[in-house]
Amino acid sequence: MDKTQQLRQATQRNFGYQWTHFADMVGANREHFFTYIYPIDDTFFEGKFGLDAACGFGRHLYYAHECGARMVGVDFSDAIFAAKGILKGKDGASLVKGDLYRLPFRHESFDFIYCLGALHHLSDPEGGFQSLLPYLKRGGAVFVWVYSKRRWLLNAILEAVRAVTTKLPPGLLRYIALLFAAADYGLFTAPYRFLKSLLGQVRLRPWAPPRIRLYAKFPFRVCHADWFDRLGAPIRFYYDEQDLAEWASRAGLKDVQTSETGAYGCRLLAYKPS
Ligand SMILES: C[S@@+](CC[C@H](N)C(=O)[O-])C[C@H]1O[C@@H](n2cnc3c(N)ncnc32)[C@H](O)[C@@H]1O
Repeated sequence: MDKTQQLRQATQRNFGYQWTHFADMVGANREHFFTYIYPIDDTFFEGKFGLDAACGFGRHLYYAHECGARMVGVDFSDAIFAAKGILKGKDGASLVKGDLYRLPFRHESFDFIYCLGALHHLSDPEGGFQSLLPYLKRGGAVFVWVYSKRRWLLNAILEAVRAVTTKLPPGLLRYIALLFAAADYGLFTAPYRFLKSLLGQVRLRPWAPPRIRLYAKFPFRVCHADWFDRLGAPIRFYYDEQDLAEWASRAGLKDVQTSETGAYGCRLLAYKPS
C-alpha cells in the first residue's frame, strides 16, 4: 500500500473513532454553522437540494435541513453512522458512505455543495475541491471552510507535537487529548466564562481572542473532541484567502468571495457559471 493510501485509511479510522465517540449536538453548533458558511445565511436554503461533502456526524447538515433544504451527506468514515442517529426520522435528509474523490451522484445534481473543515484533511485538498464541482448545477454555489495559515507560529508548534501524536492509537490519543483540553479549557475558557458571568460580555469582548469566545459557548466535551482532531488527524494543511481564491479561479468559478473567520479558519464562497 502506498503512503497516500495509508494516510487515507488512517484518516478514515481516526475520524470514525472521533465522531462515534464525540457526536454531541449542542445549541452552539447552529451559530458555528453560520460562522462557517458566512456570507450565506438561513434564507439561502429553502427549497434547494444540497450536498454536505465530508459531513462527519451531520451537525451542519442538520441545520441546512432545518433551514429548508433537501440534503445529502457523504462521508467515508464510520462518522456516517453517528450522522444516521442525529438525522433519524428527518424526511429529505439522506446519507451515503463514500469517498469525496469518487462521488456516486449524477453530474449537475445539487443546487449547492459545501465542505466544512474537511478538505484540509485530504492528501490533495485542491483535487478534492475540484472533484466536487461536476456534481454542482450551473449557477450553483459552493462554500468551503479550511484551516488558516495565518497563525503560523501556533501551527508550527502544533505540527511539532503532531509528529508524535498522529502515531498514537485513537484509544490512547483520547486520553492525551483530554489532558490538552483540560489545560486549554482550564487556563483560558473557564476563567473567561467566570469573568464574563461577573463582568458581562461588553467589557470582556475586546480582550478575549476569538477562539476563547468561541469555546466559551461550548461544553468541555467539544474542546476535548477538537483536541483529539487537532492531535490525531493524519493530514492537516493550512491556507489563506489568496490560496482559496486561486482554487476558485483555476476551477473557472465566478463571483468569488473569501474571508477569514477570525478564529482559525478561512472561507470561500463561489458560483459555477450558468
Ligand atoms: C474534521 S471532520 C469535519 C466533519 C464535518 N464537516 C463537520 O464540520 O462536523 C472531517 C471529515 O472529513 C471526512 N473525510 C476525510 N477525507 C474524506 C474523503 N476522502 N471522503 C469522504 N470523507 C472524508 C472524515 O471522515 C471526517 O468526518
